[in-house]
Amino acid sequence: MSPYFIGIDVSTTASKALVIDEQGSVIVTRSQPHALSTPRPLWSEQDPEDWWRASSQALREVLEVVPAEQITAIGLTGQMHGLTTLDAAGRPLRPAILWNDQRSGPQCEAITKKVGEKRLYQIIGSILPPGFTAPKLVWLRENEPEIYRQIARVLLPKDYVRYKLSGAYVMDVADGSGFGAMDIGKRTWSDEMLAAYDLPRAWLPDLCESTDVCAYVNEAGAAATGLKVGTPIVGGAGDQPAGGVGNGIVSMGQCSLTVGTSGVAYAVSDRYAPEPDGRLHTFCGPMPGTWFHMGVMLSAAGCLRWLHDELTPESSYDALNQQAASVPRGALGLVFAPYLTGERHPHPDPLARGAFVGLTLRHGLPHLTRAVMEGVAFGMRDLLELLRSLGVNPSEAVVSGGAANSPVWRQIITDIMGMPLYTVNTSEGGAFGAAILAAVGAGAWPDVPSACAHMVRKVDELHPEPAGIQDYERLYPTFRGVYPALRSSFAALSEFEA
Ligand code: XUL
Repeated sequence: MSPYFIGIDVSTTASKALVIDEQGSVIVTRSQPHALSTPRPLWSEQDPEDWWRASSQALREVLEVVPAEQITAIGLTGQMHGLTTLDAAGRPLRPAILWNDQRSGPQCEAITKKVGEKRLYQIIGSILPPGFTAPKLVWLRENEPEIYRQIARVLLPKDYVRYKLSGAYVMDVADGSGFGAMDIGKRTWSDEMLAAYDLPRAWLPDLCESTDVCAYVNEAGAAATGLKVGTPIVGGAGDQPAGGVGNGIVSMGQCSLTVGTSGVAYAVSDRYAPEPDGRLHTFCGPMPGTWFHMGVMLSAAGCLRWLHDELTPESSYDALNQQAASVPRGALGLVFAPYLTGERHPHPDPLARGAFVGLTLRHGLPHLTRAVMEGVAFGMRDLLELLRSLGVNPSEAVVSGGAANSPVWRQIITDIMGMPLYTVNTSEGGAFGAAILAAVGAGAWPDVPSACAHMVRKVDELHPEPAGIQDYERLYPTFRGVYPALRSSFAALSEFEA
């Protein structure tokens, strides 16, 4: 009987289950959507029960194709940082507060002051942005004390699905790194950070490595999904490190650019050396004894979705691509600031906003569309520059996410990065990476790099156009100037809105 491995991805838009064989061929994937609610400015929430409903249904559907007896192990991935609070009976106490929720800005400032900036960066490998998990607990203590009093356990989104499958409260170090309370160099919870937040250790799950078998499907999990009782579950990883594995980014010098809802530049490191000013996240890697650097834009392809949904919902994305392609580089002097949900890197500012700068009567929807694509690509370039400042000097990068499916947008990104960008044989990213972690955990491969060497292949490569490099090098300084010029206006507009 050939062994198969499942990757489950609890993303912001949907939960997906994917099955691969030992060679990395994708046998089946199924996905079920879930809703997002933004009940107040800066808020972003989801119902944990929706994750379980969607994941369990996606699992039932893939098991109609591959028999449960042949599933050797399961790996989980998902959106990082989401605060999922459970009572003593393991029931969610309120909607989860997600990675792109910006409400805990004041709490982050207070904790940063208490610990001291440099010390904080050294421990948690990053600044403390409102998206991280722990500051949201401080927000709950200050704003919803009746909920806070009932908390018995705290999990991340994918770990809630693991808990429903197995009854186990566990978190892997690669996802746990985004909690904001780990000692990243030591790969453990930090007593110093927990004391600064004044949070009890007892709420936090045990930590494991991404490839460790840390739980087994129990009776309730099996009844809800069709999986076999006792199927092993590995630690898995957050969507970015799992996506890194799925893209084959497993050794020093490799780099990936993911332009999905959020935008991420990602590279692996074999030692813990965080950016001294916390301008990137340096987190525990999905391979034991490794770390990764990651720069995050909060709204990337999400900006084009906004333009589509709000300005031209009747257009197809193909039509938008054609419109963008019909306009010259630089969209006749129009620049878009892509900070629609605040920003994390390189401008850690929950109040940052989007802007079109340079509008004239000559500009229409095609120019706005192209400017949005270019503004997102310039934001990704900012992240690449941060990686370069840490000595990561890739000569090429793998590109993935929704933007990689648009030929015009992919060329724009390639020109703005000024280096070849390639795609790999799967666009399943995180779910594929989680299934690879499961295969390694089950012993099908000795380690993640050897699994990736067999399973992940370059399929095509796009080179920058010399004229594109030239035009965008001229425009990049103007883009760089937009945020500093508008920062105080963004803050004033947020205050006005409130
Ligand atoms: C990573 C991050 C996002 C989320 C959602 O730090 O905030 O990538 O994981 O995709």
